[in-house]
Amino acid sequence: MKKTRIVVIGAGAVGSTTAYTLMLRNRVDELVLIDANHKKAVGDALDMNHGMPFLGGGDLWAGSYEDCKDADIIVITAGAAQREGESRVDLLKRNAVIIDSIVEEVLKYNTTGILLIASNPVDIMSYITWKKSGWPVERIIGSGTLLDSARFRYLIGEKLKIDPRSVHGHIVGEHGDSELPLWSLANIAGAELSLSDADKDEIFTNTRDAAYQIISAKGATYYAIALALDRICTAILRDEGAVLNVSTLLHDYHGVSDIFLGVPCVVDRHGVREIIDIKISDFERELLHRSADKLRNLIASIGV
Ligand code: LAC
Repeated sequence: MKKTRIVVIGAGAVGSTTAYTLMLRNRVDELVLIDANHKKAVGDALDMNHGMPFLGGGDLWAGSYEDCKDADIIVITAGAAQREGESRVDLLKRNAVIIDSIVEEVLKYNTTGILLIASNPVDIMSYITWKKSGWPVERIIGSGTLLDSARFRYLIGEKLKIDPRSVHGHIVGEHGDSELPLWSLANIAGAELSLSDADKDEIFTNTRDAAYQIISAKGATYYAIALALDRICTAILRDEGAVLNVSTLLHDYHGVSDIFLGVPCVVDRHGVREIIDIKISDFERELLHRSADKLRNLIASIGV
């Protein structure tokens, strides 16, 4: 039987934590870490491999782009990360160049896998990856608002003393400052949430600004995004058909086209199988358009 393989490109905080998460959960037969600083990837691979006697599991090594051959999923986490006082969009120019060169390398060795993008600003990096690769769009997935939706569900659960796994809630749009909460769809067992407007404002503000809070406290975010990436990888490898708010190309989705945004998608072995046609209010629709317009202007500004 063919071995399953995930390649993680970028052994910074997000990439190495993602590899560690995939390893702990024994997700694949082969896990490869690639970094421009090969020494760092070698160090991470050694450190993680020394834990194998406690876990069992597959092979993990620091590799090169050639290892992308036969990979089921290539996770791109490389690039500059947000620093205190920066938004994700401030990384745009730097990371667009990095992503372009990474995709070029990957394409030399792999044309059939799924590219999962986490580098920020993730919706634009996913769009650039799609354009550059020429791959069918279902095989380019951005981590999108999956993490934001998890933060949202966690904060709602915390307020209502409900397990966040039992809270249904969606953040859509940009993974960033223009994202929006779909309060009209948030529920617990189908029941409307008993939250005041002030509670809702507080929950959404803390969701949207979570990365700023964490970066100001410790310089970077990586644990929850690693779990979000692990969740997407699992939906792909197990052909789950899981509904996840990942970033995908929209075609007349509530009037929004030709932009990658986080929306509820069905994810399986082929990538994004379909987008769920949710009902949203007029106000939510307007905010979704604003989020799309913001990203479209940014893409135009770098001439993609
Ligand atoms: C965050 C980074 C991954 O939201 O964008 O934590």
